[in-house]
Amino acid sequence: MFTNTLRLALAALCASTVLAVPSLEARGADFVNPKTGNRFQILGVAYQPGGESGYKPESGVDALADGEVCLRDAALMQRLGINAIRVYNLSPEINHDACASIFNAVGIYMLIDVNSPKIGESLHREEPWTTYTPSYLNRTFAVVEAFKNYPNTLLFFSGNEVINDLKTGDVIPPYIRAVTRDLKNYVAKHSTRPIPVGYSAADVREFLIDTWNYLRCTTTADASDPSIADIFALNSYSWCGDSSFKTSSYDTLVADFKGTNVPIFFSEYGCNEPTPRIFTEVPVLYGPLMTPVLSGGLVYEYSQEKSNYGLVTINTDGSAKLLADYDTLQKQYNTLNVTALQGVKAVNSTITPPKCQSSIIKEKGFSNNFTIPAILKEAQVFVDNGVKLSYTPKLIPVTTTKVSQVVKQSDGTTIEGLSITVLADDESNTPSGQKPSSSGSSTSSSSSSAASPTASKKSGAGSVQASMGALTVVGLLFAALL
Ligand SMILES: *[C@@H]1O[C@H](CO)[C@@H](O)[C@H](O)[C@H]1NC(C)=O
Ligand SMILES: *[C@@H]1O[C@H](CO)[C@@H](O)[C@H](O)[C@H]1NC(C)=O
Ligand SMILES: *[C@@H]1O[C@H](CO)[C@@H](O)[C@H](O)[C@H]1NC(C)=O
Ligand SMILES: *[C@@H]1O[C@H](CO)[C@@H](O)[C@H](O)[C@H]1NC(C)=O
Repeated sequence: MFTNTLRLALAALCASTVLAVPSLEARGADFVNPKTGNRFQILGVAYQPGGESGYKPESGVDALADGEVCLRDAALMQRLGINAIRVYNLSPEINHDACASIFNAVGIYMLIDVNSPKIGESLHREEPWTTYTPSYLNRTFAVVEAFKNYPNTLLFFSGNEVINDLKTGDVIPPYIRAVTRDLKNYVAKHSTRPIPVGYSAADVREFLIDTWNYLRCTTTADASDPSIADIFALNSYSWCGDSSFKTSSYDTLVADFKGTNVPIFFSEYGCNEPTPRIFTEVPVLYGPLMTPVLSGGLVYEYSQEKSNYGLVTINTDGSAKLLADYDTLQKQYNTLNVTALQGVKAVNSTITPPKCQSSIIKEKGFSNNFTIPAILKEAQVFVDNGVKLSYTPKLIPVTTTKVSQVVKQSDGTTIEGLSITVLADDESNTPSGQKPSSSGSSTSSSSSSAASPTASKKSGAGSVQASMGALTVVGLLFAALL
């Protein structure tokens, strides 16, 4: 009964049900989908339910610890239309397989901060040398270990708003480059694919461009210097209310960042004064004025916290309610032409970085010292040998698609039958009713119906049926074997 033919058929069917987003690469100024050669624009939200205090590693709790919670939020994010989340405070001791697999299944990438506000888990802003220790690096490498195996890990942030004023700008830049270098060396040695590493800056215009230049320049004769950041991001709050490209000073950002050798995007955006927000920056950020230079951004933030930036209120019993800002943002996303936005071929994969020299730093007092601190011998051992976790992170099958918690619309009515739609292989999520980004224009020539999404997001649902069809066949085969 258990013939080789059956065995083969079974293996082929099982293989065809392993769905994953295409892992993206940073090439030149762009994020690139290596399977299509297309540029990728980030449509994202910051994800930290409970805010900073939602991070309780001692109780096994971080933002990606609970699959049931992630399923609820992934369903709402998929409906909203995003393709990426930024997650700030994560413990490598916690298993994130369920959440990472759910976000992968719905075509959502993860931007991972390796630091946390806990003591010993980030650099001290004014005395970084006191915290650049083997145990700090061990933890940051452990975060890489915890996320490197997921295909939807988009990048690692080596720091977030560590430089906040000229006092910190004087001392900390060499240390940010050092941590970036160490992470890149770790990824190069222990990851099967290149995962970009870079910095998320506060938008302080006095030294924003200096920060970018400091982190992207090369200290060696060529561009192989591992301390060059792979990407640069800024937390941007200069578009408030009914603003414009000029009034928001987005225009100077585009002018200043033109010719960048690394992808640049907003690691946070969405000024909340005045509220409710109207998100008129969305069509501009993803329009012809900005996309030639920037790669999109992430709205701050998914859950409603004290700071009042939320799109969704999460209650202690696990139920949730959409806020008016969710609806407004969704409407703005729905105005975008995703085929046009995600269908642009990347052109220049190698743009020469500027040379590190004091003349590239304009603001007096900002570091122009390009001597990067060496890694300590005890920490180099972690780079050489790798850091071991107590488990092996991996994608797992997503078997539950229906959300169990009660979720209400902004008008108070309950959303019936809320569930995730598992996308086909190589797809990322898009605003509803629009074409999947990865396949774009090339679907008509494909002959394999299960693997070729032909129309809109509804084809996502179609592909679920296709893979459920495959599962049913697998099930029947197993039944036949018994
Ligand atoms: C390094 O990190 C791993 C994973 O968190 C931990 O198990 C190990 O004890 C750490 N090693 C040292 C020397 O701190
Ligand atoms: C979207 O962009 C594509 C490619 O540029 C174009 O062919 C299509 O007509 C656009 N759709 C709409 C509704 O504008
Ligand atoms: C790529 O960028 C480099 C500058 O770093 C430039 O010399 C080259 O002409 C560019 N190539 C294309 C195809 O734009
Ligand atoms: C430059 O920074 C390094 C640490 O990265 C430090 O050892 C050195 O003293 C600094 N040089 C100057 C001139 O401040």
